[in-house]
Amino acid sequence: MPNEAAFDRTAGWRIIRQILEKSDSVIGLSTGQTTINMHRIVSHIYTQYPFDVSRVTFFNVDELTNLPREYAGSCYSMIMDQLVGPLGIAEENFIMPPTLSEDFQAECRLFEERLAARGGADLQMLGIGANGHIGINQPGTSFESETWVSPMDPDFEARVRRETQVPEDTILGGLTRGIKDIMHTRKLILVAKGAHKADIVAKAILGPVITAIPASVVQLHPNCEILLDAAAGIHIEQWRKERGGASPDREI
Ligand code: GLP
Repeated sequence: MPNEAAFDRTAGWRIIRQILEKSDSVIGLSTGQTTINMHRIVSHIYTQYPFDVSRVTFFNVDELTNLPREYAGSCYSMIMDQLVGPLGIAEENFIMPPTLSEDFQAECRLFEERLAARGGADLQMLGIGANGHIGINQPGTSFESETWVSPMDPDFEARVRRETQVPEDTILGGLTRGIKDIMHTRKLILVAKGAHKADIVAKAILGPVITAIPASVVQLHPNCEILLDAAAGIHIEQWRKERGGASPDREI
């Protein structure tokens, strides 16, 4: 996409298109700086020109564990604020694991079972971390992983700790769809914007498929689109130019 605004608009319309094409779609979202505007755009368009969302199911690819759900940085709060609230999605159509539980393993299974009961995920929007993580699957995570509680990226964890009153001896984690579950989604859209994502995006898309870069696994998905703004896609563009306009074997 030529710039950030075009990226936000295009990504937002991908979510709307999925809903218009299949009114009972099961749609996975991703939180973070990358997706805030696209969610706001969907909410804005819905307010102006309401479309039928009564049968759509939303969920998020991940959620933080061991802190209150009301924390503004929990995935539940962010998605509720940015999209699910403004669209008036019914509670039973917003599938999220809890942030607090005695048995997260059981919650992980239940989460996937609830998605499966709705026919499985149709679309998963996927952000990418600076270290190549998808969901909260950090480098080294097996491609066979199923929904689980992963350790968090240390920088991200430090930020969450600064923003919460979670006691120091409480272990924070990230309940995340496993890479295998993500790959079982019918359509993936990997989204990235900003120059700070350019290097990792190039490694993930043009480099080898390796667990050291979890996002590289999307190269193996038969229906994955990669949406980038110009800054995040700068190395891909360079790669294309060097090859006379050839595109990597993926829709970017
Ligand atoms: C966090 C989220 C991921 C997200 C990633 C990118 O780790 N748990 O789901 O994809 O960060 O975030 P940002 O868009 O802020 O760079």
